[in-house]
Amino acid sequence: MISDKVRNILNEQINKEFYSAYLYLAMSAYFDEIGLYGFSNWTKVQAREEVDHGMILFDYLIDRNTKVELMSIDTPDSEFTSPMQVFEKILSHEISVTESINRVAALSDDECDLATRNFINWYIAEQVEEEAAVRDVITKLGMFGDEKASLYLLDREFKERDYRAHSYK
Ligand code: FEO
Repeated sequence: MISDKVRNILNEQINKEFYSAYLYLAMSAYFDEIGLYGFSNWTKVQAREEVDHGMILFDYLIDRNTKVELMSIDTPDSEFTSPMQVFEKILSHEISVTESINRVAALSDDECDLATRNFINWYIAEQVEEEAAVRDVITKLGMFGDEKASLYLLDREFKERDYRAHSYK
């Protein structure tokens, strides 16, 4: 049986994952507007992965016979000025998601909910990967500066990112 506290924090996490999907979609639209179609693809693929993250939590609550409570999704930030500024926003957003996943893990420990503690490990590992991937992009953007040719090459690389459905089972 999942405690009320763990149920609430998992429902909040569903909302955060779907908000993340909205945020990445807003970024994808911005990149499309400025003609960086590879960056647009990268962020759109990320949006789909965020939906998966929300759905995995959703399915977990169902599996545990626990009430799902879907909340309103906030309007995402849409003030974007450059690829670097967007990826810095992504990094700070993902760091905040990592902190909230860590709080789920800590609460699961406090509540002796070992199933949730085990389940959330998948997200802990996923956050390490996501933060590393975003830092990598920031490093590349930092090296290239405003050099259009390099931005074009990176954009071409990002066109290749494919969506792969995420699953924890
Ligand atoms: Fe679901 Fe980007 O964390």
